[in-house]
Amino acid sequence: MVLPQRVKIVEVGPRDGLQNEKQMVSTATKVELIERLGDAGLSTIEATSFVSAKWVPQMCDNAEVMQQITRKPTISYPVLTPNLKGFEAALAAGAEEVAVFAAASEAFSQKNINCSIAESLTRFEPVLAAAQQAKVKVRGYVSCVLGCPYGELVTPEAVEQVALRLVNMGCYEISLGDTIGTGSPLSTRRLIETLSRSIPVEQLAGHFHDTYGMALANVFAALEMGVSVFDASVAGLGGCPYAKGASGNVATEDVVWLMQQSGVETGINLEQLVQCANWISQALGRTPQSRVAKALLAQSNA
Ligand code: HMG
Ligand code: MG
Repeated sequence: MVLPQRVKIVEVGPRDGLQNEKQMVSTATKVELIERLGDAGLSTIEATSFVSAKWVPQMCDNAEVMQQITRKPTISYPVLTPNLKGFEAALAAGAEEVAVFAAASEAFSQKNINCSIAESLTRFEPVLAAAQQAKVKVRGYVSCVLGCPYGELVTPEAVEQVALRLVNMGCYEISLGDTIGTGSPLSTRRLIETLSRSIPVEQLAGHFHDTYGMALANVFAALEMGVSVFDASVAGLGGCPYAKGASGNVATEDVVWLMQQSGVETGINLEQLVQCANWISQALGRTPQSRVAKALLAQSNA
């Protein structure tokens, strides 16, 4: 078995992690979270989303977050943009990378962005065109790749069709969202096998929610297939407001631990990351949920 030598972890805690928090998190806390993650060595930190505040109130301070973070030149701070309006606002706030987000399930697409899959792809065309002109990189998400919260059957071929449209539009990478965490190592393997027939594996990223405790196993299954980019959320924060019961992404510290144990480089300082997980969990009034944070914090308190 040959694993990639190095993986890139895309930290999605400040966006995917916080978007589902019921209590409003202050802008200062969001900014500090992003800066602490940068200090721990994360090179890509999804900072916020330029979506409708009526739909996701927690992200209403998107422009303030972008303005207040002290940016490091080596770090990328992508933001979500569902349409041209969001893209223009993101650009005005100084975003240098954005992500568009589609789904492989019609029902989820309607609930999440209020339009069909086909309509969403049509909406993304002008975003990609404007981004190209502004020299802004665009990542593409596909949600529900291994299951839909509304019970719709999603095949790997359906995911492939949406992913290919995004690649052909100019997305440099496709993040495969297991939105409700119903994927398993076997279904992950099948999905990557199908997709890598038409999209180079270097352009695929794994985005596994951990609802059923399978996320880390799915990361490893994808790693074995050559995937080397994984989205993760510090302290396992989060969930999607339009996927009831879905829990957060795989915890960043769990992925870093897994990679360390597998001899795969991440460039991340685990100790600092665990301190960050502890800090944000306390700021939200809880203890870190991830196994690795719990274990390492217990040792350091012993
Ligand atoms: P809509 O209501 O159909 O939009 O929402 P509209 O075009 O009809 O406009 C309605 C109002 O929204 C108008 O304002 C627009 O100006 C405004 P009004 O005239 O009523 O005052 N509007 C906006 N405001 C701010 N920013 C914008 C924007 N666009 C329109 N960009 C829309 C359509 C897409 C905007 C809405 O459905 C929305 O914001 N959805 C976002 C939902 C969301 O953020 N979901 C979570 C992120 S996705 C996710 O978590 C999955 C992922 O992690 C991968 C995975 O796990 O699978 C990525
Ligand atoms: Mg997600």
